Amino acid sequence: MTDTGRVGVLGCGLMGSGIAQVAAAAGYETIVRDVSQEIWERARGGIEKSLAKLVEKGKLAATDRDAALKRLAFTTTTGDLKDCDIVLEAVTEDLVLKNALWSELDRLCGPRTIFASNTSSLTIAAMAAATRRADRVVGLHFFNPVPLMQLVEVVRTVTTSEETFGRAFAFAKSLGKEPVAAKDSSGFIVNLLLVPYLLDAIRAVERGVGSVPDVDKAMQLGCGHPMGPLTLLDFVGLDTTYRIAEIMFTEYRETRYAPPPLLKRMVLAGMTGRKSGKGFYDYSVNPPRVADLGL
Ligand code: CAA
Ligand code: NAD
Repeated sequence: MTDTGRVGVLGCGLMGSGIAQVAAAAGYETIVRDVSQEIWERARGGIEKSLAKLVEKGKLAATDRDAALKRLAFTTTTGDLKDCDIVLEAVTEDLVLKNALWSELDRLCGPRTIFASNTSSLTIAAMAAATRRADRVVGLHFFNPVPLMQLVEVVRTVTTSEETFGRAFAFAKSLGKEPVAAKDSSGFIVNLLLVPYLLDAIRAVERGVGSVPDVDKAMQLGCGHPMGPLTLLDFVGLDTTYRIAEIMFTEYRETRYAPPPLLKRMVLAGMTGRKSGKGFYDYSVNPPRVADLGL
């Protein structure tokens, strides 16, 4: 625990629910805002399952799981986050949406509240500019699945104060994570390297270099990756990856960040990966089978 007492989380999709889980498990009173009760009920179910797995594996005591769940509250009202010491934002990768929430909270929160974005590809500067607390805006980039992945990139933009950076870094550590410092450059460290690799895997499938399972198998067995790139894309979400690629391509004007046409076609068809039940694989069957990509 740090001097941070109360944690707010915006969005409880894949990332927001994981962030809320680790914050509550680390002892913070945590309030999560999403747009509907249906969404947060699903998120709460996912958190309960994840905590149960950790208990099953002996990584968490059952009493600590119960205490963590008691510390978690959900709301559909942004204003309910006004008393938080830090607000972690994990809504859809869309600058207009994120900035609308930041400017609303900027009016409601006290001056000490830190605003931390989990963006994958937007710059922190683009969000700091929407507030009157540019010195209190920072990036805290977690990795999926949040309860298992150790890394958090702590991102300082030109306006972030030393104090804010230090508090955000200490907060990440208090969650049991391993923070690294990263510059406010679109994609930070990991996505600058990871995103072109994932997009190249799609291009390899588009060009018929290998089938979906063979591209995955090649990178798992040939490079020792825990997941093949197409399985990882389904895990991250193809809609999110498409947005990230568009943002990084616009920022750098380098073709390696350009979203491949197949990715766009799949997103348009609603094939967003595990979250919709279908992406490169079809998850309606167990074990999942390769989806028909119309190639
Ligand atoms: N909560 C708690 N436990 C979980 C869990 C969760 N959310 N998800 C999985 N587990 C447990 C499983 O139950 C399993 O337990 P057992 O060992 O008792 O069976 C254990 O964790 C390992 O899981 P699996 O056997 O299912 O699979 P695995 O050994 O492959 O590990 C993984 C899972 C850690 C996700 C691993 O596959 C992995 O590291 N994959 C790569 C993930 C990755 O690259 N993430 C980064 C994505 S990019 C990003 O996040 C940035 C961005 O901006 C897009
Ligand atoms: P997601 O689609 O799973 O979840 C986004 C959530 O935001 C949804 O539940 C949606 O209802 C909610 N939302 C939309 N508008 C909202 C509003 N006005 N107020 C509150 N909630 C709202 O997306 P995700 O994968 O969790 O990604 C969220 C953020 O985290 C993005 O910025 C993404 O780039 C980043 N990120 C994603 C991953 C990943 O692997 N998916 C990894 C690291 C960072």
